[in-house]
Amino acid sequence: MPPDPKHAAHFDTNRQWWDGVVPIHEASRGYNRPGFLRGEKPLCPVEHAELGPLVAGKKLLHLQCHFGMDTLNWARLGATVTGLDFSLPAIEAARRLSADSGIPGRFVQSNVYDAAAALGEKFDIVYTGIGALNWLPDIRAWARVVASCLSDNGLLYLYEGHPMLWTLDQERDDDLLVVSERYFEEPEPMVFEGDTTYVDGPKFEPRRTCEWNHGLGEIVTAVVDAGLRIAFVHEHREVPWQALPMMEAVGPGTAGADGRYQSNRMWRLPEAQRNLVPLMYSLLAVKSGA
Ligand SMILES: C[S@@+](CC[C@H](N)C(=O)[O-])C[C@H]1O[C@@H](n2cnc3c(N)ncnc32)[C@H](O)[C@@H]1O
Repeated sequence: MPPDPKHAAHFDTNRQWWDGVVPIHEASRGYNRPGFLRGEKPLCPVEHAELGPLVAGKKLLHLQCHFGMDTLNWARLGATVTGLDFSLPAIEAARRLSADSGIPGRFVQSNVYDAAAALGEKFDIVYTGIGALNWLPDIRAWARVVASCLSDNGLLYLYEGHPMLWTLDQERDDDLLVVSERYFEEPEPMVFEGDTTYVDGPKFEPRRTCEWNHGLGEIVTAVVDAGLRIAFVHEHREVPWQALPMMEAVGPGTAGADGRYQSNRMWRLPEAQRNLVPLMYSLLAVKSGA
């Protein structure tokens, strides 16, 4: 079953937000489009290590692909890729990135909940994450979409912000970890208003977003109930964006004047807090054969 029709207005609000931020992201240092074209904007180390060895020669579907950078990075590792996103400017930007890089990819505009009908084919791998599930109201309906897009024995790989990370107050400047948002999925969205995105770029007129959290148990159970067998769930201490002001950069990256929002950078909590809370998780699951 698709999500409750009352979410149509929430999807509209979110699509308008995403339509507006696509050009900002294309021009940002954080996404680093010129670096991607030079082959210098790889996948995150965790997903590269965990899924990278499995993609060559496979048909991979990237749900909520934004402007296709991660999608095309999987193609660089040998996958035949399709990206799906509900933002037309994102899909058009993904097609431009494919043309400019010479990396083939198919890009389809659709709400993720209508993916099976919009795509009309099955895939060996469904990949998604890094800020995808928080835009979706119904995690159980999402898991059924994933299952319907997979061939028998196909894989779901998810690399996503941990639901505990989404509960933390992101505005504080006193270095405290404070739980201020919901952990569990609720039918009504959490409504936020802001004038910036999660990477560098100009401010815009404040705009709203409608978001939902989903507990780790809710996600895992939704995947199992949709007919997939879970191979692993790993929780991580590093996150691919500066999620909280006190986070420090890890590993290689391009230093910028303000020290923030650099590409190829992972972020982690200071040492004293590093074992207090997971920041990301990765999940691999297999769709059982008939
Ligand atoms: C943070 S991006 C995730 C992609 C990738 N990790 C990245 O950073 O480029 C989230 C994407 O989800 C898309 N999105 C949000 N809600 C959606 C929905 N209901 N159906 C399809 N796409 C959706 C947005 O348009 C956006 O491009």
